Amino acid sequence: MTTTPTTPSERAAHARHGYSSYQITLHWTIVVLVAVQWLMGFGMERVYDAVENNEAVSQWGPAFIHIVLGITIFLIMVARLMARINRPVQTAAGTKHHLLAMLGKINHWAFYVVLLAMPPVGALAWFGGSEAAAGIHSLTAWLLLILIVLHVGGALLHLVLGENIIRRIVRPTPGN
Ligand code: HEM
Ligand code: HEM
Repeated sequence: MTTTPTTPSERAAHARHGYSSYQITLHWTIVVLVAVQWLMGFGMERVYDAVENNEAVSQWGPAFIHIVLGITIFLIMVARLMARINRPVQTAAGTKHHLLAMLGKINHWAFYVVLLAMPPVGALAWFGGSEAAAGIHSLTAWLLLILIVLHVGGALLHLVLGENIIRRIVRPTPGN
């Protein structure tokens, strides 16, 4: 459970125990973009399959949006990774549930790996015509969904155990 810092020294000690407003903004921007991107993925799959089978494509829109959003997600994840490295934050700081916190840490870094890998692999499928890359891209899309379920489930489990860690990703800590 986090407490609100009052004195300057408390603020300094507290700073790296939570996220900055910049990190929080990027977190929720990615949540919205990934949700849209995931749903757009099926439109992309239809276009990709039609191209691969030499069929006529009536609508290129879903493919265009999928590529633009995918590149945007990649760039934001790079910005997030830089922010995370330059401003280290303890996952679920102050928690009594250390195993859960450790799983959370693995979950967070897995998000970085998956979301930074998906766009180049998708590009390899689309621009390089690689069916193997398309297969890996589909697989990682489902892996991403599992990571999201575990992530939200973990946050809710903390809540059930009496620790509201959701406020950590809603309320910025001082020391941006
Ligand atoms: C992190 C960003 C991305 C996410 C979350 C994402 C997500 C998805 C999802 C959910 C699907 C449908 C899953 C399926 O086919 O079973 C899909 C399909 C596809 N995406 Fe992405 N995508 C991303 C970035 C990109 C980028 C940047 C490109 C290309 C430049 C791309 C190219 C493709 C292609 C070609 C397919 C069809 C693959 C197939 O039919 O098997 N994706 N994507
Ligand atoms: C696409 C969906 C999501 C992704 C990819 C994602 C990714 C991440 C990542 C990578 C972190 C680590 C912080 C950082 O490096 O900036 C994080 C933190 C966090 N996220 Fe998410 N998140 C998603 C959705 C959600 C949702 C829907 C919730 C609501 C329950 C949530 C709650 C949290 C919490 C509470 C933390 C802070 C954990 C802590 O350090 O104590 N996330 N998220």
